[in-house]
Amino acid sequence: PPPLPLLLRLRRPPPTAATMQAAAAARRHLLDQHHLSPASSAAIAAFRSAAQPALAPQGSGGADGARYMSARAPAVKGAGHLVRKGTGGRSSVSGIVATVFGATGFLGRYVVQQLAKMGSQVLVPFRGCEDSHRHLKLMGDLGQIVPMNYNPRDVNSIKTAVAKSNVVINLIGREYETRNYGFEEVNHQMAEQLAMISKEHGGIVRFIQVSALGASASSPSRLLRAKAAGEESVLKEFPEATIMRPATLIGTEDRILNRWAMYAKNWGFLPLFGGGSTKFQPVYVVDVAAAIVNSLKDDGTSMGKTYELGGPDIYTVHDLVIIKHNCYATINTKIV
Ligand SMILES: NC(=O)c1ccc[n+]([C@@H]2O[C@H](COP(=O)([O-])OP(=O)(O)OC[C@H]3O[C@@H](n4cnc5c(N)ncnc54)[C@H](OP(=O)(O)O)[C@@H]3O)[C@@H](O)[C@H]2O)c1
Repeated sequence: PPPLPLLLRLRRPPPTAATMQAAAAARRHLLDQHHLSPASSAAIAAFRSAAQPALAPQGSGGADGARYMSARAPAVKGAGHLVRKGTGGRSSVSGIVATVFGATGFLGRYVVQQLAKMGSQVLVPFRGCEDSHRHLKLMGDLGQIVPMNYNPRDVNSIKTAVAKSNVVINLIGREYETRNYGFEEVNHQMAEQLAMISKEHGGIVRFIQVSALGASASSPSRLLRAKAAGEESVLKEFPEATIMRPATLIGTEDRILNRWAMYAKNWGFLPLFGGGSTKFQPVYVVDVAAAIVNSLKDDGTSMGKTYELGGPDIYTVHDLVIIKHNCYATINTKIV
């Protein structure tokens, strides 16, 4: 037989339901071991006790008290009850100490900006180089944005990243696979692991999971099936979690209009598959960040709920390309 193309050979076969269940059980076992291990508990206790008072949540009891009392206490209130100080600007205290996983991405920059703007402390776990979070540092007052190097496969480093927080936001996701990370691990297993750790923590009052519009176990897309599995696992581990399902995000750094514009600029034409009849309901990235931050401000009404976030209008790809083309009118693009 002719040799398979390289990409096809690198692709792993999709996991079966039995394999996924076995993997989840193994992760839970590993987590329990870490949770019970005196060494890791001592390390986290030492880390907490070394925390500066400014880093501690400003809560009147719910957030802070529960953290040290119970490992499995259910969160019953939102972040709305946390004590606030100041006028609500970036130099005030919102009471929210949020660990934002995936903060280095497109949506992350707007979530961090809006959290910091209202006086929250934001912990930014990053796995790449120091440049990946540099743009976030100026979004908050001095010391309010705290980058932390972590390894998404190291349970202890995740526990350290959430140790001082009362809110966890998971924006981790990727729309393509690499040799190191498949859809399942990034969009499902990591979400499940974060939810487990947040529940064990005991003081996380809000967990926000960002999924994607169309996530469904019966979707023909493997990415959307992994997103659906991620939602299910998160709700199993952390039933009070809020699920956000945004449609395609648009904004200054988006990966759709910018990519089309780049293609058109480089090649002078833009191919439209199926005549560009695919429908989109793109949503502005700033609005999605606002939805996430607003859900944190409520008294818990958004807990345990799923929100589908679409923009005001539905477009076909063809419509969007025409809009983009008119914006970049100086580029001589043929639409074929
Ligand atoms: N953009 C859209 O149109 C859209 C639409 C619907 C839903 N969503 C969902 O919204 C969320 C945020 O989207 P986005 O556009 O901001 O994505 P993004 O720009 O690609 O950022 C993704 C974030 O996830 C992190 N990440 C990716 N793979 C990882 C891995 N293997 N281990 C640890 N971290 C990893 C990235 O970290 P590094 O910087 O270290 O790579 C980055 O911080 C995602 O869950 C995405 O699926 C996005």
